[in-house]
Amino acid sequence: MKNKLHSGDSLPFLESLPAALVDALITDPPYASGGLHIGSKNRSTSDKYQNGGTARKYPEFTGDHRDQRTHLRWMTLWLAECLRVMKDGAPICLFTDWRQLPLTTDALQIAGFTWRGIAVWDKGEGVRPQMGRYRNQAEYIVWGSKGQMPNERDVGVLRGVYKEVVKQKDKFHVTGKPTDLMRDLIKICKPGGLILDPFAGSGSTLVAAQMEGYHWLGCELSEEYKAIAIERLAQLKGHS
Ligand SMILES: C[S@@+](CC[C@H](N)C(=O)[O-])C[C@H]1O[C@@H](n2cnc3c(N)ncnc32)[C@H](O)[C@@H]1O
Repeated sequence: MKNKLHSGDSLPFLESLPAALVDALITDPPYASGGLHIGSKNRSTSDKYQNGGTARKYPEFTGDHRDQRTHLRWMTLWLAECLRVMKDGAPICLFTDWRQLPLTTDALQIAGFTWRGIAVWDKGEGVRPQMGRYRNQAEYIVWGSKGQMPNERDVGVLRGVYKEVVKQKDKFHVTGKPTDLMRDLIKICKPGGLILDPFAGSGSTLVAAQMEGYHWLGCELSEEYKAIAIERLAQLKGHS
């Protein structure tokens, strides 16, 4: 049950897990963002998220096309299963962008979690500039807990803003999160606890958990990304 990356759709995977198993849920689900209308949402993930910036091509991923109503419904479906498999008091962290921030805070609460705040990932000044407008250089981590969150969890004070630039050599997914960012964020989990990521992508949460001495459990629909995650995890083992 520990340190295993599963294949397939996260909903049946979550349904197969026993109740009160995990100590933290830290995940970066499809945002269904990239535009306000169905035409823009239905663009390929590389078109939406790669900004034409790099020569490197990443595999596409699915599940990012839903409109607001169906995305909210889908989020609450799998989040309700997460609530069941988490221990009382366990923290939950959900990545999102500025467009989907309100939907994400709604979904978290509809599923039954207590919303406790928003941490900020500052991606730095390399993000596409916009003449006469603010640069959208942040993504957000909506966080909360399953019910009361006791202070006595052996977790210190954590920052609320994390500046971490995406480096090409550390980018394995079209929307990949930096390993060092994940190494910091997962510290909301009690030391040595079991961290669940049902949308593992290239495995950034799992790699960070392995590096920081946590147990982990993941699921990923894309076989291409699962293979990348397995390779990253295997390289870690090779260096330990
Ligand atoms: C935003 S990406 C996660 C990227 C990851 N944080 C990383 O750094 O590599 C979301 C991932 O969820 C996967 N996904 C989409 N729908 C899914 C589903 N129903 N079940 C499991 N995984 C799914 C996609 O294939 C994609 O890799």
